[in-house]
Amino acid sequence: MSSLAPELHALLNAQINKEMAASYSYLAMSAWFEETPYGGFAQWMLAQSQEETTHAMKFYHFLIDRGSQVEFDAISAPNRDYSSALEVFETSLEQEVEVTASIHRLYDAAETHRDHESKNLLNWFLDEEVEEEKAVQKMIDRLKLVGDNPVGLLQLDQEAALPKLLIATNAPEGN
Ligand SMILES: [Fe+2]
Ligand SMILES: [Fe+2]
Repeated sequence: MSSLAPELHALLNAQINKEMAASYSYLAMSAWFEETPYGGFAQWMLAQSQEETTHAMKFYHFLIDRGSQVEFDAISAPNRDYSSALEVFETSLEQEVEVTASIHRLYDAAETHRDHESKNLLNWFLDEEVEEEKAVQKMIDRLKLVGDNPVGLLQLDQEAALPKLLIATNAPEGN
């Protein structure tokens, strides 16, 4: 197995930082929900936060397995200034769309350098991003449907308390 091309090495390290930043941001979203009556949404965001950490670790271990140095960069303070559940989930979707674009750039670089092992790793992430964007979009659609209706919001909050059960049924292997 050849060593990583410098461009791929840099992008993979940057991705660790992006996944950890996403984890930090989801944790702040969870903390925001903890200050509201919506404990289910807090759980959902906490689960997302933990998932992003496992994503970072996949890149971390891949770099080590490839004999490449892991590099650490600063993570900026996450936003925790939200005004509604809908706004939090819309921010979550924006974040996921950005990560997807970043995975696409990584995939392009892996193709350019004909790095098949990197492509194999990234294929898992492509599937994962489809699932994550789908789950968040579905919640946004339903939050828009209920609007400010507290009964509807509490119903969605209850369902959000079980995100792992709902997501795990169709998440890619090795999640
Ligand atoms: Fe991720
Ligand atoms: Fe994600």
